[in-house]
Amino acid sequence: MVVGMGSGTTATHFIKLLGARVKQGLKVRGIASSIASEELAASLTIPIIDFHVSAEIDVAIDGADEVTHQLELIKGGGGALLREKIVASASKRFIIVVDSSKLVNKLGKFPLPVEVIPMASPLVARKLEKLGLSSTVRQSHTGGDYITDEGNLILDCKCGEIEDPAKLAASIRQIVGVVEHGLFLNMAERVLIASDSGITELTK
Ligand code: A5P
Repeated sequence: MVVGMGSGTTATHFIKLLGARVKQGLKVRGIASSIASEELAASLTIPIIDFHVSAEIDVAIDGADEVTHQLELIKGGGGALLREKIVASASKRFIIVVDSSKLVNKLGKFPLPVEVIPMASPLVARKLEKLGLSSTVRQSHTGGDYITDEGNLILDCKCGEIEDPAKLAASIRQIVGVVEHGLFLNMAERVLIASDSGITELTK
C-alpha cells in the first residue's frame, strides 16, 4: 500500500504509529507532504518513495486547521499546504484527523494561508486586499520571513467567516503569483474528530 503522510503535530503522531507498525512487519511505502515528515518517516525506517515510483496514493492521512461538517478544510498552518494538496490530490482516500477544537460551522476564523512566489508577494497582497482579505507575510520562529519547502512565502489572510469557499478559492487561484491556497474543498473523504467523549466521524 502507498500511504500519503501529512504534516504537523497530528500527522507526526500518525507517522510515529505507522513507523511502529512497519517495525512489526507492516508492508507500506510512504510519500511525505513535507521535508520534516519525510525525515521523520525515514528515521522510523518507513520506505519512502516519490511520484516517479507511484503516481497514485492509496490513502493519505493528515491534520487540518479548520474543518466544517461539509468536510471543507483550511490547511497550511504548518506551512506545508502545497505538498499536502499535491499528496491529497493523488490519493484515492484522503482522511483527516483533528481534535474537536478544529470543527467550525463556517471556515475563516483561522487565517487562510496562501503560498506565493516571493517577488510577487506585495502584488498578490494588494490583489487579495481587493478580495477583502488583509494579509501578512508569515514570519519564522527563528526570525525573518517563513520560507516553505518550495522556497516560497506564505501570506496569512484574515477572512472572517467565508460564505462561499469555492468562490473564494477560484478568485484566489486567478491571481498570478499565487502558488496554492489552504482551502481544501471536495478532497477529504472522512474526518475523524477526537474529543473528551470519544471519536466521531464525518463522512461525505
Ligand atoms: C500543515 O501545513 C498543516 O496543514 C497541518 O496539517 C495543519 O496545520 C494541522 O496541524 P496540527 O496537526 O499541528 O494542528
